Amino acid sequence: MNASNAPRVAIVTGGLGGLGRAICQQLLDAGHQVVAADLPCDEERRRRFTDALESERGEISVEAVDVSDAASCRQLAQRVHQRLGRVDILVNGAGITRDGTLRKMDDEQWSSLMRVNLDGLYHMSRPLIDGMCERGFGRIVNISSVNGQTGRFGQTNYSAAKAGVHGFTMALARESARKGVTVNTVSPGYCATDMVMAVPEKVREQIVAQIPVGRLGDPKDVARAVGFLAADDAGYLTGINLPVNGGYFMSF
Ligand code: CAA
Repeated sequence: MNASNAPRVAIVTGGLGGLGRAICQQLLDAGHQVVAADLPCDEERRRRFTDALESERGEISVEAVDVSDAASCRQLAQRVHQRLGRVDILVNGAGITRDGTLRKMDDEQWSSLMRVNLDGLYHMSRPLIDGMCERGFGRIVNISSVNGQTGRFGQTNYSAAKAGVHGFTMALARESARKGVTVNTVSPGYCATDMVMAVPEKVREQIVAQIPVGRLGDPKDVARAVGFLAADDAGYLTGINLPVNGGYFMSF
């Protein structure tokens, strides 16, 4: 809720994924109208998702989008504007991995990842930024990764895109700072999501051994950071990169 007591309208891309779901719940708990935007899915998955989110305050809906496709993002922005009037909060959470050492990487592994993890930020922010600036309020939170800050063996594509995410954040933060729009990055470490559980078990055990807190992150740990940056009273925080990684940096 904001000062005028109207709920904010939020879009969360990758909204049905491991982190996205927790972020949707966090924003719902803050009383917002939340649009979980993700690749098209069947009615059953959509229903299971909305049933699983509990809130007595906000409202959740699901919209299909392919963030790698500019037209799909523009259409999503139009649909949400028509239905809910505006978009105040954008969380760019959609992301994929296509791991492989550079020597074995093919063009599709590289470019498909760039289209989702980096182009997706542009495709989603571009149709929404004007409205946010005109209304004098906006919160954009981009989800990066610890691997964008450290580099990761087998992830030249992912590390490059995730480092690029924060470059995008800082540039857009400067462009919109005087318009009431903040743009920030949250960089999760290794969380218990399908993406991380797909890493070979032996590699995962080595990763956990390097996390000072001694466990994988809970998606809620990341969602809390997003909620903090998306809040109305977070207007003096912009262009930052907030790591949520259980102290992983300290291992280096
Ligand atoms: N550091 C150093 N050397 C490594 C290494 C590492 N982390 N991993 C593998 N190597 C070495 C191997 O020992 C091997 O050495 P030799 O050739 O001397 O035997 C060589 O590299 C090749 O190893 P592989 O046979 O495993 O190579 P591969 O091409 O089959 O697979 C890989 C490489 C894709 C990196 C695979 O090991 C892998 O999938 N690793 C997991 C990658 C990972 O952690 N991804 C994170 C996903 S989660 C995420 O990204 C979310 C987030 O934001 C945090």
